[in-house]
Amino acid sequence: MSVSVKDVAARAGVSVGTVSNVLNRPDKVARATVERVQAAIDALGFVRNDAARQLRAGRSRSIGLIVLDSANPFFAEVARGAEERAAREGMAVLLGNSDQNADREVSYLDLFREQRVSGVLLTPTDLAGSAVRRLADSGIPLVLVDEELPGGATPSVAVDDIEGGMLAVSHLLGRGRRRIAFVGGPSSIRQVADRLEGARRALATTPDASLEVIELDALTVLCGRDAGEEIARRPADERPDAVFCANDLLAVGLLQGTAILGSVRVPEDLAIIGYDDIDFAQAAVVPLSSIRQPARAIGVTAVELLLEALASPRGAVRHVRFQPELVVRASTGR
Ligand code: RIB
Repeated sequence: MSVSVKDVAARAGVSVGTVSNVLNRPDKVARATVERVQAAIDALGFVRNDAARQLRAGRSRSIGLIVLDSANPFFAEVARGAEERAAREGMAVLLGNSDQNADREVSYLDLFREQRVSGVLLTPTDLAGSAVRRLADSGIPLVLVDEELPGGATPSVAVDDIEGGMLAVSHLLGRGRRRIAFVGGPSSIRQVADRLEGARRALATTPDASLEVIELDALTVLCGRDAGEEIARRPADERPDAVFCANDLLAVGLLQGTAILGSVRVPEDLAIIGYDDIDFAQAAVVPLSSIRQPARAIGVTAVELLLEALASPRGAVRHVRFQPELVVRASTGR
């Protein structure tokens, strides 16, 4: 049998209204009364039913965040930034992991709508997909994270991934590498496609350089390790002399894969650069060069864009685009 507000009021010897004030506006209640009601709540094990309050308020104090891969430290850092900023408003972040699966993404969007979240922060699996439109039609404010809709009808925060790809490959070219491989995930992932486009634009400036594209099933350490092993098994004259990985998880795995046979030295035989600059990049056995994304700032900014949309629903739509940053470490040589 669940404990009600009435049970708490009877136990504390106050009215139901006083219990409600203690729960919602404790600063308006005498300290001694707050302590008496809190003692009754603790003794009875009362848990407030937020659903009724949410229905009255129209929206909950929570924000839904859906990321592509919650196992990727980049998105974990984005979530931390979002949580820190939301907490300053007395709000909480509910995290959903689409795992790059459109059906899971829709399930989370439906769940967050049922939960009457104040808004949704979304890294979409498919920008043109129904999920984004579905949410827009539902009237729940949406902010695109690590993505931007052409035409800009939805607030967004992202990084210029084409610039990031150019930075990575220009750095490899500057290190004298000429047989470059791009190791990425499905080109349907916009971030991957843009990084590859940046790589191509950088290579266009160096006629004697070549680009091999290795498209993997996923952007994971295991996929990166398999790619590293495959490269290491090749005859030396068939190997690239540098690899640009679409993210650091691939780069960490690729570094492991090349080490398994012990025949490829990093960076002497093969320079490696990743993307995101997650902590594992710096901690790798050969510290990895990477293209840094301000993940935590992306999360903070996403919440701020949502707060702006909540404050003025018909206000100007803002798009924030951070610039990526080259971080040079041992994996591309000094
Ligand atoms: O989800 C794939 C990649 O896109 C992540 O590693 C991060 O770089 C994001 O921008």
